[in-house]
Amino acid sequence: MKITIVGAGYVGYSIAVLLCKNHEVSILEIDQNRIEKINNNKSPIVDEDINNLLKKKSIKIKATSDTNVAFKNSELTIISTPTNYDPDLNFFDTTSVEKAIHNYLRIRNDGTIIIKSTIPVGFTKKIRELTGF
Ligand SMILES: NC(=O)c1ccc[n+]([C@@H]2O[C@H](COP(=O)([O-])OP(=O)(O)OC[C@H]3O[C@@H](n4cnc5c(N)ncnc54)[C@H](O)[C@@H]3O)[C@@H](O)[C@H]2O)c1
Repeated sequence: MKITIVGAGYVGYSIAVLLCKNHEVSILEIDQNRIEKINNNKSPIVDEDINNLLKKKSIKIKATSDTNVAFKNSELTIISTPTNYDPDLNFFDTTSVEKAIHNYLRIRNDGTIIIKSTIPVGFTKKIRELTGF
């Protein structure tokens, strides 16, 4: 299966490493430094197990900042961008997740999106109503 992961942090990159064993995995990232590391078979996150794995073998994960390339052929898209919680405002900043969904729907309206980012209750329902996806 062709899978795209949005955001190569602790959640996104570790999922990518697991899924790339059996699937074709791409990553959409905004941080150029992380993109270069991933494309050079280096981990963008500090994780001993992943570092040990990468020392032993090369894994096939392609990273890009180009939404067209990332979303065009993706059968499953997993969003794992940050949604920082502000306890004073009692509010999750879901802007990066909304942006990823918006960019995806500019390119296509099929496939499946999974949100792994932390989101408030009712967020998915609201997005589905707003976008019709
Ligand atoms: N579902 C779970 O099991 C679980 C567990 C822990 C954390 N989380 C949530 O997952 C999300 C990610 O957490 P993390 O610890 O991996 O964060 P992180 O800060 O380690 O990584 C986030 C990555 O997303 C990238 N990014 C930011 N905006 C982007 C955008 N618009 N497009 C593409 N990439 C973008 C950043 O450059 C970074 O590489 C958070 O919402 C967190 O609360 C979920």
